[in-house]
Amino acid sequence: MKKKYYITTPVYYVNSKPHIGHSYTQIACDTLARFIKQLGRDEVFFMTGTDEHGEKIEKAAVESGLKEGQEQKFVDGIVPVFKDLWTKLNIKYDYFIRTTDDYHIKTVQNFLDRLYRQGKIYKKLYKGWFCTPCETFWTSTQSPDGICPDCKRPLEKLDESNYFLKTSEHQKWLIDYIDKNPDFIQPDFRKNEILGFLKNEELMDLCITRPKSRMSWGIEVPFDKDYVTYVWFDALINYVSGAGYPHDMERFSKTWPAEVHVIGKDIIRHHAVFWPIMLRSLEIELPKSIYAHGWWVIKGEKMSKSKGNVIDPIDIISRFGVDPFRYFLLREVQFGSDGAFSEEALVARYNSDLANDIGNLLSRSLTMAEKYFDGHVPDVSNINIVNTRAEEIKARAIRSVSEMEKLIPKLDFTTALANIWEVIALANKFIEDSKPWVMAKEGRRDELALVIYTLLEALRIVSIEVYSIMPETSEKMLAQLGMDKADGLNLANAKIWGSLPKGMKVNKSQSLFPRILVKPQ
Ligand code: MSP
Repeated sequence: MKKKYYITTPVYYVNSKPHIGHSYTQIACDTLARFIKQLGRDEVFFMTGTDEHGEKIEKAAVESGLKEGQEQKFVDGIVPVFKDLWTKLNIKYDYFIRTTDDYHIKTVQNFLDRLYRQGKIYKKLYKGWFCTPCETFWTSTQSPDGICPDCKRPLEKLDESNYFLKTSEHQKWLIDYIDKNPDFIQPDFRKNEILGFLKNEELMDLCITRPKSRMSWGIEVPFDKDYVTYVWFDALINYVSGAGYPHDMERFSKTWPAEVHVIGKDIIRHHAVFWPIMLRSLEIELPKSIYAHGWWVIKGEKMSKSKGNVIDPIDIISRFGVDPFRYFLLREVQFGSDGAFSEEALVARYNSDLANDIGNLLSRSLTMAEKYFDGHVPDVSNINIVNTRAEEIKARAIRSVSEMEKLIPKLDFTTALANIWEVIALANKFIEDSKPWVMAKEGRRDELALVIYTLLEALRIVSIEVYSIMPETSEKMLAQLGMDKADGLNLANAKIWGSLPKGMKVNKSQSLFPRILVKPQ
């Protein structure tokens, strides 16, 4: 039985509509999922969803004008906003989980029940802090000043009896596990941060409930009806409940462990510390890896409703297109690091990398195929000229495919794209240096045929390579080259130089990325 390649995104809080930060994780995971499908070796299971319980959602429901007890109505109204954005961004997930789904609620209760029966959960008075925006507990040692160490907002003082999961006893085991499995937490510098934390701070048992008297929008604790489950305990379990645990163990065993949980750096502790301990407590295998990407900031500041600097992805894609947005996010900043989002940077990338480099290459090459070969792919099968520049392009193009095979599964989109753009740059330079128009004028037909064929073949390879990042562009490029869009779905087609059928008709149509001349607002 072959295991599926299981990719997850976080389940997003539905207290407000999604912004570019959420889109970023989605686009990264969608690219990975499409690429693994393109490799054709594994069946992919790509899951995303929504995190619908907790104090933050309860408050948002009330703020929206609904009465207490109408939270379900509130979340039902927001989930379609997320799904709609994912459709617009071309996110092809295989499954969407909602933490209010019945089967998920049962899985969470099953977890709680078993842990309780095994004596791994106990009750005690909790005195400490709680950050509602982060839905995170903090001790007074962690926050001596009552300010959230993560989001820097004021904390709420808690003094309530709660249930706790015995977490601290796993501290040493977790340190050893991370040491022995160097790829478990990525990138490396994040792993070191987690190890630093685990080696220097004593792990507290995890509070896993909230009394209903304080907050009731959550999954009821099966052994104490006065409590609901702490939202993070509930949310993390989505990764296994969505894969079938325990209601469909056949599907679960084909899916779990996840290949990678892709998350933002803000939620790494929950994933790299609490989640492994929760799983170990029930003897469930750990995910293979956790990858924490960086944050997009606006003019050096975090995006927030109160600052009024939240970027709406719908606005961006309606003005610049979906593929430029996907490309920009994955190219502009090394995946894993933080980045500054600005329209100026987006427009600059658009005009240079998309309009000038790839767009121009396609349009110039097709124009020449039309002009000099009546719109057909020239036949080079009987041409015996050696053109070292053409050979160089061929070798670089083929190499970029094998590099991609290594880089994308490691989520290094940035380097993979830079490599593809090297091929594009070589091809553009080839046009300028070899001057096909002079060849045409001087009647050097064989040389000309070789140049045009090399350009079209390089473009065919590039169009397959960009599929996972810019699916619509890939399709448009293939169509203009006279190929079928299905040819782009198989990466193996990009590894064979010379697959462009001779004599095939190309179909030059409108430019891929018309230059943006207006200054951004
Ligand atoms: N519900 C929790 C996750 C539970 S997973 C078991 C949560 N949700 S969230 O909606 O607040 O945000 C989830 C993710 O959105 C972050 O981890 C990150 O992936 C992404 N981002 C939110 N803002 C971001 C930026 N400004 N920049 C990049 N990504 C950020 O946390």
